[in-house]
Amino acid sequence: MNTQILLDQFSLLYGSGAVLYTSPGRVNLIGEHTDYNGGFVLPGAIDKGIWAAVKPNGTSKINAFSLDYKASASFGMEEADLPAEGWAKYIFGVVREIIKRGGKPGGFDTVLAGDVPLGAGLSSSAALESTFAFALNDLFSLGIDRFELAKIGQATEHNYVGVKCGIMDQFASLFGKEGHLIRLDCRSLEYEYVPFDPKGYKVVLIDSMVKHELASSAYNKRRESCERVVASMKKRHPEVQFLRDASLNWLEEVKTEVSAEDFMRAKYVIEEIQRLLDACESLKKGDYVAVGEKMYGTHHGMSKLYEVSCDELDFLNDLAREQGVTGSRVMGGGFGGCTINLVPESKYDAFIDRTVKDFTARFGSAPKVYPVKIGAGARRLN
Ligand code: GLA
Repeated sequence: MNTQILLDQFSLLYGSGAVLYTSPGRVNLIGEHTDYNGGFVLPGAIDKGIWAAVKPNGTSKINAFSLDYKASASFGMEEADLPAEGWAKYIFGVVREIIKRGGKPGGFDTVLAGDVPLGAGLSSSAALESTFAFALNDLFSLGIDRFELAKIGQATEHNYVGVKCGIMDQFASLFGKEGHLIRLDCRSLEYEYVPFDPKGYKVVLIDSMVKHELASSAYNKRRESCERVVASMKKRHPEVQFLRDASLNWLEEVKTEVSAEDFMRAKYVIEEIQRLLDACESLKKGDYVAVGEKMYGTHHGMSKLYEVSCDELDFLNDLAREQGVTGSRVMGGGFGGCTINLVPESKYDAFIDRTVKDFTARFGSAPKVYPVKIGAGARRLN
């Protein structure tokens, strides 16, 4: 990102003295739809994100300009001041969630831009929330720790966007570290940095460019399925708070008490939590072939049991397997977006060429290709 453009635009609109902040998007090697089930995830921040020039303006008003949308929004900080612009709602939500927690941010001016693709499953929205949560905490010396900043972003999704997401995306955006994935236990919130440098492999995202309008309601429905199964299990096993606490045997016990659909959803989640733990063991040994097999297992589960894939993503997954790609799967919430691929270096160029060609021939438009670099988390730049 050329941050000078941000500063120039800021001077033009609001004057000098802005501070620059950025927070990244994320990838997730394995462990999908496990976060809101108290399970594990294995995300890493990427070298693409949202960037903002911000400066307190001494009022109780926020003036924002989005370089990507070439649009401005001005709004107050009371609940009734919710802006109409979709992108501005995230900033407003972060401000409101800080205030609800007793923080007292003042008004500010800001210019923002992103280099993380929107709606591709790379958590551009978490990057946006984390940028402003981090910036306001810093500029107004609010003393909020990074975990709480992540929860502020998550609560923004719940209360101002309508997605009942887990904590993974905001956590990764705030805690990211170059060259490392982070294994997060979403029940205890304990985490561990896992060095990630798969020698002889490249990690690449293939963006199907599919964006489903109904993705957020479908996401919320998946979460409700999991909660219904937990409620059923609780009758026999009161200690079950999340699907993380359950075994496949306990799931079998409630098979006739839950719908066939809810059963499939829960089966996927319980299996996925175990898949992640197995993949982490393989990672420690440097056994990427075993990690890759687990990734294919995740894709299969997300496609057939959790049903969050689509034709385009299944096609990409089949193409990867056919070409000897070590691991491949749909990444993030699903319903469109990217596959993440662990590709032997020797096969990389041929894989990209053929994937772009075959996908275009089948669906009439080219997918996008993003090589992955694991970058740092939220930070101040000047
Ligand atoms: C979205 C959500 C996350 C997580 C993933 C699926 O990215 O924001 O909390 O649930 O989907 O793993």
